[in-house]
Amino acid sequence: MDSSEIAARLETVEAEARSAVEAAQTVAAVAQLRTRYLGRSGVLRGFTGMIAGLASGEEKAAAGQSINSAKMRLEETLCAREAELGRAAIEGDAGAARPRAGFDFSLPGTRPRVGRRHPVYATMEAICETFGRMGFGVEVGPEIETGFNNFEALNIPMEHPSRDAFDTFYLQGGLLLRSHTSPVQIRVMTRQKPPVRIVVPGKVFRPDAPDASHSPMFHQVEGLMVDEGVSFADLKGVLTVFARDFYGPNVRMRFRPSYFPFTEPSAEVDITCLLCNKTGQVHVPGCPVCKYSGWVEILGAGMVHPRVLEGVGYDAEKYTGFAFGMGVERVAMLKYEIDDIRLFTENNMAFLEQF
Ligand code: PHE
Repeated sequence: MDSSEIAARLETVEAEARSAVEAAQTVAAVAQLRTRYLGRSGVLRGFTGMIAGLASGEEKAAAGQSINSAKMRLEETLCAREAELGRAAIEGDAGAARPRAGFDFSLPGTRPRVGRRHPVYATMEAICETFGRMGFGVEVGPEIETGFNNFEALNIPMEHPSRDAFDTFYLQGGLLLRSHTSPVQIRVMTRQKPPVRIVVPGKVFRPDAPDASHSPMFHQVEGLMVDEGVSFADLKGVLTVFARDFYGPNVRMRFRPSYFPFTEPSAEVDITCLLCNKTGQVHVPGCPVCKYSGWVEILGAGMVHPRVLEGVGYDAEKYTGFAFGMGVERVAMLKYEIDDIRLFTENNMAFLEQF
C-alpha cells in the first residue's frame, strides 16, 4: 500500500459520498451522512489509520494531505446540501400557505385590546378615595350573607313591612345574597370597639326587573362613623365634601326625611340632576334620569339606631353615629351622563371604551 493507492481509494469513497449527499432529501438525512463519513468512527477515520503502515515520511505526509482535503471537500458538500434543503423547507411552507389560506402578508397585524377599569369600579374607587381623605378606612364583606346580618341585626324584624324594601334572593341554609352593604356595619362593629370610621364598597342584589334605572345586581358604598358626640351635622358635612369633590362646587344637595329601620332619624339625599340641571336652575323637561324633577336620589342615610348599637354591644348612651348607603351606578350615571343602568352590564365595547 502506498499513498497513491490511498488517494485512489479516497476518490472512490468521495464520489460515492457525494452522490449519497445529493440524493438526501432532508436535513436529517444529511446529518446522518456526515456521521457516516466524517464521524469519530466514520469511513474517513479508517483512512487515517492506514498512514502508520506507510514506508516513508514523505509517503505519510502525502497520504495525510489527501485525506484532509477529501474531508474538507466532503464537509463543503454536506453544508451546501443542508442549506439547500433548509431553504426549500421554508419556501415550501410559505408557498403552500399562500394559495391555501389566501394570506396577505402586507395586512397590518391584529392589535391586542388593552383592558381598562370598568366605570362602576373606577367610580367606587374614587368614592372610597374621597372618604379616605376624610379619614375613613375601607372594609369589605361577603356577598352571601346571613339573614341575621342583612335584617335582624339592622332592626328589621321578620314580620316588619320594611323588609319588603330589602327583599333579595334566598339561598339554602338561611343564607341570602345581601340586599345592601349595611350588614358589613354589623360585621365591623361586632369585632371592633368605637371609634369606627369606614366605607364599604361592594355588590348588592335585589329581585328588581331590569329597566333604565333598576338592575338585580348593583353596587353600593356604605359609610359608617361611630364615636362619642357624632351628630347629624357631621353627616351633612361629610356628604357635602363628597358631593363637591365629586361633582364640582355648583352641585346642590337636599335631605328629605325618610325611614330606614336601622337609622333614626333617616333621610334620603338628592343632588341636583347633572344631566339636565347643571347650574341648579335650568331644568330641561324629559330627562330620563331625574324623571322631570331636576333632582336625583343618590343615597340613604341617618343616625345609627340605638338598637343597632346595643345589638353589637356598644353603649348607646355614650356613642352615637351616622351611616349612609350610596348607589354607585347612580353616582356614575350622573358623573358621566349615562341614561341607562343596563349599559354597565352589556359588555358593549363601544360604551366601555369611552372611560
Ligand atoms: N342600606 C340602605 C339601602 O340600601 C341605605 C342606608 C344605609 C340607609 C345606611 C341608611 C343608612 O337603601
